[in-house]
Amino acid sequence: MPRKIIIDSDPGQDDAVAILLALASPEELDVLGIVAVAGNVGLARNAKNALRIVELAGRTDIPVFAGCPGPMMRKLVTAEHVHGDTGLDGSNLPDPVKTLEDRHGVDFLIETVMSAPENTVTLCALGPLTNIATALVKEPRIAARLEEIVLMGGAYFEVGNITPAAEFNIYVDPEAAATVFACGAPVTVMPLDVTHKMLTTPGRMKAFRDLGNRTGAAIAGMLSFSEHFDLQKYGWDGAPLHDPCVTAWLLAPDIFSGRQCNVEIETASELTRGMTVADYWLITDKPRNAMFIRDGDADAFYRLLTERLARLP
Ligand code: BDR
Ligand code: CA
Repeated sequence: MPRKIIIDSDPGQDDAVAILLALASPEELDVLGIVAVAGNVGLARNAKNALRIVELAGRTDIPVFAGCPGPMMRKLVTAEHVHGDTGLDGSNLPDPVKTLEDRHGVDFLIETVMSAPENTVTLCALGPLTNIATALVKEPRIAARLEEIVLMGGAYFEVGNITPAAEFNIYVDPEAAATVFACGAPVTVMPLDVTHKMLTTPGRMKAFRDLGNRTGAAIAGMLSFSEHFDLQKYGWDGAPLHDPCVTAWLLAPDIFSGRQCNVEIETASELTRGMTVADYWLITDKPRNAMFIRDGDADAFYRLLTERLARLP
């Protein structure tokens, strides 16, 4: 039986690859729906991008919902400087024909988890955690009913990318992140510590281009756009590919390694707002509330991506 997942996302070029990887793997993953959240760009554009991605994959049967338009307590911070004005620059995807579902994304999330058998739905979070935290506040019983929350966010050894202390997804809505880490559901974290090892080297980009399908062409186009910023910033041989680590974890957990430890979020300080304080060295006896991934086999990760994405139109 494929594992049931809901993808919560602010697509985003790397989000798009994460979603496409899931859609390319129907034997393992049953995507119940995609919920858009404000993050990389505003909610309306992110939601439109989610529709574009399901159309690219030929999976218009997947319902797409709009969630929250901004963080729980703070002003929205966006990242057009990385993703472009549309949030998905470089992909050249047409405007979608498919439309959003009427229901609010948070209600979809709650109702789906409450009506499915216990511990059978996994949430994949690829953006700020606003929708998931709002669902947890509105219906706290979902925490005990979730199979897992797998999220891209935070960093410990690599510290930050939007400020010296914080990773973007956690920084945008630190109160939401704090709510998720404290909720009691099993949480797996894909922080910058692992995503900074998954680089889009020229050879790996060529493999996407060479897939020979429209998905490969769209991915090569969009990643060529979004990698610019990071290539200049870090001077590495490729840019980090963040969000696909979430869906790759569900398909091939052996690619990754990390440890169960305590993770808490800084919400009070302005200087370190959104810092993920991970007790990776088990210095305290605080509850080990998250599986914190530190490392991954980049070649195996890109092999998985190209092998799966070749299956799409
Ligand atoms: C995260 O921020 C976004 O810009 C990416 O899509 C990813 O989810 C990386 O910090
Ligand atoms: Ca994202």
